[in-house]
Amino acid sequence: MKPIFLIGYMGSGKTTIGKDIATNLKISFFDLDQLIEENYQKSISQIFEEYGESRFREIERNMLNKISDYENCIISTGGGTPCFFDNMEQMNNKGTTIFLDTSIDELVDRLHYEGNKRPLLQGKSRQQLYEYITQTLAERKSFYSKAKVKIFADDTNATTSRILQLIKTGII
Ligand code: S3P
Repeated sequence: MKPIFLIGYMGSGKTTIGKDIATNLKISFFDLDQLIEENYQKSISQIFEEYGESRFREIERNMLNKISDYENCIISTGGGTPCFFDNMEQMNNKGTTIFLDTSIDELVDRLHYEGNKRPLLQGKSRQQLYEYITQTLAERKSFYSKAKVKIFADDTNATTSRILQLIKTGII
């Protein structure tokens, strides 16, 4: 099986859903951010702080290149991964892309609850978070919409079941 790439905004459930699918199918799971953190022995926030976002995007691109040829696996990407270089085309060429389409209200709830561990969201109030997500999601949708499959993802368990059903019935 070619790799399945989960894409979507921060907080859309990529990591949780990816892990659950991999466990259910007994295949490998990779999280792009986690691989970068392990490789650099630094958190994503530290990498943003020390090297800046554009260097982070190159690092992210290089890591994506490294793992795109892996087989029989689920890969959860970062929220910005599809929006830089030709990452989206690369993922579409190498495997199956699934866009987890989560509503703005749900994203605000999840990201506000999780606190500000993500560098792009640090220090934002709930209202600022709402405005930032509304604006950046609108910009990012043109990239996310290039995914082969789009799934409404406000209910994480239902989303996992739906993806498993699509895989097991051979639809993807
Ligand atoms: C980012 C999303 C993060 C991480 C970095 C930048 C983004 O990943 O890659 O903080 O630009 O949306 P998650 O989507 O897993 O939070």
